[in-house]
Amino acid sequence: MKLPPPESYQAFYKRSMTEPDAFWSEQAELIEWHKPFSRVCNYDNPPFVHWFEGGQTNLCHNAIDRHLSARGDQAALIHVSSETGLEKTYSFRELHAEVQRMAASLRELGVQKGDRVLIYMPMVAEAAFAMLACARIGAVHCVVFGGFASGSLASRIDDATPKVIVSADAGSRGGKVTPYKPLLDDALRLSSHKPDAVLLTDRGLAPMQLVAGRDRLWSDLRTRHLHAQVPCEWLDSTAISYTIYTSGTTGKPKGVQRDTGGYAVALAASMKHIFDSRAGETYFSTSDIGWVVGHSYIVYGPLIAGMATIMYEGLPTQGMDRQPDGGIWWSLVEKYRVTAMFSAPTAVRVLRKQDPALLQKYDLSSLRALYLAGEPLDEPTGRWIAEGLKVPVIDNYWQTETGWPLLTVANGVEQTPSKFGSPGIPMYGYRVKLLHEGTGEELTGAHEKGVVALEGPTPPGFMQTIWKDDARFVNTYWKSVPGKMVYNTFDWGIRDEDGYFFILGRTDDVINVAGHRMGTREIEESISGHPGVAEVAVVGVADALKGQVAMAFAVPRDASILSDAPAARALEGDIMKRVDGDLGAVARPSRVRFVTGLPKTRSGKLLRRAIQAVCEGRDAGDLTTLDDPAVLQQIRDQLAAG
Ligand code: PRX
Repeated sequence: MKLPPPESYQAFYKRSMTEPDAFWSEQAELIEWHKPFSRVCNYDNPPFVHWFEGGQTNLCHNAIDRHLSARGDQAALIHVSSETGLEKTYSFRELHAEVQRMAASLRELGVQKGDRVLIYMPMVAEAAFAMLACARIGAVHCVVFGGFASGSLASRIDDATPKVIVSADAGSRGGKVTPYKPLLDDALRLSSHKPDAVLLTDRGLAPMQLVAGRDRLWSDLRTRHLHAQVPCEWLDSTAISYTIYTSGTTGKPKGVQRDTGGYAVALAASMKHIFDSRAGETYFSTSDIGWVVGHSYIVYGPLIAGMATIMYEGLPTQGMDRQPDGGIWWSLVEKYRVTAMFSAPTAVRVLRKQDPALLQKYDLSSLRALYLAGEPLDEPTGRWIAEGLKVPVIDNYWQTETGWPLLTVANGVEQTPSKFGSPGIPMYGYRVKLLHEGTGEELTGAHEKGVVALEGPTPPGFMQTIWKDDARFVNTYWKSVPGKMVYNTFDWGIRDEDGYFFILGRTDDVINVAGHRMGTREIEESISGHPGVAEVAVVGVADALKGQVAMAFAVPRDASILSDAPAARALEGDIMKRVDGDLGAVARPSRVRFVTGLPKTRSGKLLRRAIQAVCEGRDAGDLTTLDDPAVLQQIRDQLAAG
């Protein structure tokens, strides 16, 4: 039989724009449907989009059950922890059994379709069981990053109002154990909402005080439901699969809400067209389940594609014997014959500090490409890893909101050259525009800097709305460019003469620390809650290793601190401890510096951008509106003093 000639990416992209219904119906065949959809795309009420209306499916069915007959005994989930030395492979059949045990346990605790289950877990296999179990029974999971502390957790508990919380005794990072249970107990004291039950995995890392009538052990429930058979609930394509919190301009995190059918189709399509992957192969994403990359490309994407997925707990520089070993990831690539690997530039910068011979030590011949996302990929880092691995390094740009890459290259459709410094070209389904921030006018010339925006309808897999807050979704994302209803990414970009985009950083107060997205307002809120602080500004400052770090400038209530170095150091330490306790160490500023005032406009608006420029040694820009120029000089002096 003669195969049809391969389609060029240009033709593929064009088809997604001009015949979206036919295009996405074709992609929808990559997953299994219990009931076929009757309408591909309902965009009657912009900017809200309903994909595959009338259809019924299930994410867990597509991730596990559908693979049982063809590859039931093949590896599905490979869990490796260099923190505990545990390494275990679950076949699709074993994963099926574990997920049903978890699903039955959640049901026993009262969870029903549509109920929320908040998952606050380290990178243990049980976290993936819990996510998949929720998908199986139609519960909405809300995974909260394990690096967050009580304050962040409490606000998410109140927003999600979960019926059950799934957690563990502790996480571990670089050999340092962080007990999660006391953080969770604190969060539950702070929150107004109380869950009916807490289901705990005891890893034997930290003692746990169980609250009678509320706290239950997974080991007990698992034994009771060892032979549980819990069929998948068939869900409407538009049913909510999960929410995941992300930061924005205000201090209040947004619950990004996703559907079921559109997400499943988007992931299946991206595994094929972008990640060029096939069933039976192994995928390794080094992210965490607490981030969107973990949702899309540790848990759901690879499993939907019938691949084994590696879930790794530990640092990139630590071996299974807990000794320093910068080759651990490459040893996993060799051992499990990884074909596609996904990481972040910050991790590569860490690895670059290790012995370069480590890249030669392992057989990496299975690897076809390394995908990097989450922050700009600088050219030296990109070149170093591409030359070391001798495989294409593929930058891809996306957001928690989009769920899957919107700028990259789709080598599964057609081999397309990458350009260093550019994540690539628009992916199928995305109408990417560059707009003038002030006028909203479309910028079509090469190298013109504008806001990266999307015209609706947004493709499958894209966020449906902000959980419980349609108005905030519309106002935040779709009404911030003058005169146009377009989705604002809040990133600056330019496009070159070949149509490749370059991302130039955020237009809002979001910073990116080691690939972790953080709102400076959240950090400011935590710091200004300290009784010794009158006022504070937090900015992101360029950092060679982490991309950016947070730096705080605080006005102390007691001005004598400014001339008392030991007292200032003590207050700085105390403020950092407060941020650790509220938000988690990931949000801790690298320094807190004390000043008499903050740079503001005459109308009182804080000029964070001017502070940031000064911190980075750049020109502070137009300061005609600045109320008191002396305060910027004070910041310069502070920085000069070290
Ligand atoms: O500023 C962009 C940056 O990270 C933000 C999204 O972060 P998050 O919601 O955590 O999602 C990460 C998903 C990979 C974006 O608004 N960003 C992400 N990828 C890139 C990037 N900046 C430059 N290049 C990238 N490849």
